[in-house]
Amino acid sequence: MKSSTFAPLAAVFSALLALPQLATAFYLPGVAPTSYQPGSSVPLYVNSIKPVAAPDARLHSVMAYDYYEPKFQFCQPEGGPKYVSESLGSILFGDRIMTSPFNLQMARNESCTKLCTATYDMPSAHFVNKRIMKGYALSWLVDGLPAGQNLLDDLTGTTFYSPGFAMGQISQTDPDGPTFFNNHYDIVIEYHKVRGNADQLRVVGVIVQPATRAYKSGNENDLDCNDNGIPPVVLSEDPDTTTDVTFTYSVYWTESPTAWATRWDKYLHVFDPKIHWFSLVNSAVVVVFLTVTVTSVLFRALKKDIARYNRLDQINLEDLSGTSALEDGVQEDSGWKLVHGDVFRTPAHPLLLSVFLGNGAQLFVMTGFTICFALLGFLSPSNRGSLGTIMVFLYTLLSFVGGYVSARVYKSMNGEKWKLNMGSTPLLVPGIVFSTFFFLNLFLWANGAAGAVPFTTMLVIVGIWFIISVPLSVAGSWLGFRAPVFEPPVRTNQIPRQIPPATTYLKPIPSMLLVGILPFGAIFVELYFIMSSIWFSKIYYMFGFLFLCYGLMIITCAAVTVLMVYFLLCAENYHWQWRAFLAAGMSAGYIFANALIYLISKLSLGGLSGTVLYIGYSALLSFLFFILTGSIGFFASWWFVQKIYGSIKID
Ligand SMILES: *[C@@H]1O[C@H](CO)[C@@H](O)[C@H](O)[C@H]1NC(C)=O
Repeated sequence: MKSSTFAPLAAVFSALLALPQLATAFYLPGVAPTSYQPGSSVPLYVNSIKPVAAPDARLHSVMAYDYYEPKFQFCQPEGGPKYVSESLGSILFGDRIMTSPFNLQMARNESCTKLCTATYDMPSAHFVNKRIMKGYALSWLVDGLPAGQNLLDDLTGTTFYSPGFAMGQISQTDPDGPTFFNNHYDIVIEYHKVRGNADQLRVVGVIVQPATRAYKSGNENDLDCNDNGIPPVVLSEDPDTTTDVTFTYSVYWTESPTAWATRWDKYLHVFDPKIHWFSLVNSAVVVVFLTVTVTSVLFRALKKDIARYNRLDQINLEDLSGTSALEDGVQEDSGWKLVHGDVFRTPAHPLLLSVFLGNGAQLFVMTGFTICFALLGFLSPSNRGSLGTIMVFLYTLLSFVGGYVSARVYKSMNGEKWKLNMGSTPLLVPGIVFSTFFFLNLFLWANGAAGAVPFTTMLVIVGIWFIISVPLSVAGSWLGFRAPVFEPPVRTNQIPRQIPPATTYLKPIPSMLLVGILPFGAIFVELYFIMSSIWFSKIYYMFGFLFLCYGLMIITCAAVTVLMVYFLLCAENYHWQWRAFLAAGMSAGYIFANALIYLISKLSLGGLSGTVLYIGYSALLSFLFFILTGSIGFFASWWFVQKIYGSIKID
């Protein structure tokens, strides 16, 4: 897609990354192009007002506001603004799209049209000035394309469109001085003629150049929007004065050679693609190298162990007296075989573990499917909120998998409270997620922010959950309980063995810290981009990268956990089940720590509620990630333990 110096590797990856472009050529549902005739009206929709990076490149808030929040006093369309219907995912991700008073006609220039005049008193002036300081930006949509600002990337010398444009500016000369409020918009729209047909025009680019113009009152009917000599608009915060602001806009339509299919390319700008490639290749090499080393060492050790154990068996059979010094001496030898009578002993709290594992399997399949859909181009950015919608949809349907896995694991662990298991699988983890989400929303409601998910949407989600998700999960559990258990290859002794004291690095906390860091390392680079897409409202589209990183993470997670379990069993500690789950899940601890570092280095959320929201959402995502990676670690270890104890003879 973008140039890179890693030519051969890049070629392969680019082929992967180009998939979405190929797929969009077939026009997936919801993203078919709209053609307009010259002069026909093209609606401009407004979205919620979100903070983007302020001039100091830090994010100062995480609250979004409705475009028509009364204190902003933006001009409304005749008859009041109306909501434009949106997908569930779009609402969950904070979009609030509404109609606007702008009147755009395809290929008809419009110069200096007056919208309305608003009067700002002290409270609203203070409110608006504060939002300008915090770097809030307006986001408009024309034909599904976000209105952007044309920016120059200094590094590569290319121009790109950055979605959203500033609500105002801080004075260049005096950073502590007044803020200037933008009240004039130069809307430049690029259109493309379909196969040169002058009757079929498509929107392929939208740029808004905002400006601040304090028009003299009195001559409202004779405004000169292009006069750069007009002083800027400063909203006075003096309690005794009010400021009148007249909003104006101009529209310029320009023909563009960009085809409809590639109209998003300018928005999906990669800052410094080399660094992205470099860090991806870098982490991939490190992770693959470590994993290969670890597994080869492990396999060699295992082969030696198994050969030794089976040779000992041979000696024992031949030496029927069974009292030789050799036998006693070597049988007492350390090794994982010693714990064969305990390794399949039911772990503590089998119910909780199986519920986590069921939910982990559900999340695992969901993320896998989501990334595949994205790779195939189903989640194009024109289809707003499709990512969120598809995730909710998949998570709901896949609760069947969750119930099945949970029940099967629980039965294999000799669990007896099967009704409790059936009930808690669809209720415990989703319950935690939903209550945290609800609690964080209370904060947003309290602040009157638009990012709050409306109460009705909450009800819809609870409805979907109880009507579809819970029955599916129960059905899955029912099937899981009827399926045969996984028979352990060795019998469990009546009396548990004593566990010798562990060396330092095998103690729970150090082993968790050691194991967790590698899967985290595999996704660290991608995480940075995902975080800036979540918090800085950047469009995330590098699903090819994400796919590779997700694969690397799964492999690493499985390999290091298996290694830890091997060491644990060699140290005659057979409590591997929870240890495997927690150690692999620890990568979520690193993700949370990373989020806290991000908070300090990239955000300046002065105020309690912003910080609570940020930490709350980070904790929620980390918790889900904990369950996901923990389950990967557990199932890999389970498979491993079954395999190694199945390959030795126990008399
Ligand atoms: C509209 O304005 C643009 C930019 O100034 C110009 O290139 C274009 O020719 C104008 N179109 C019409 C129909 O006047």
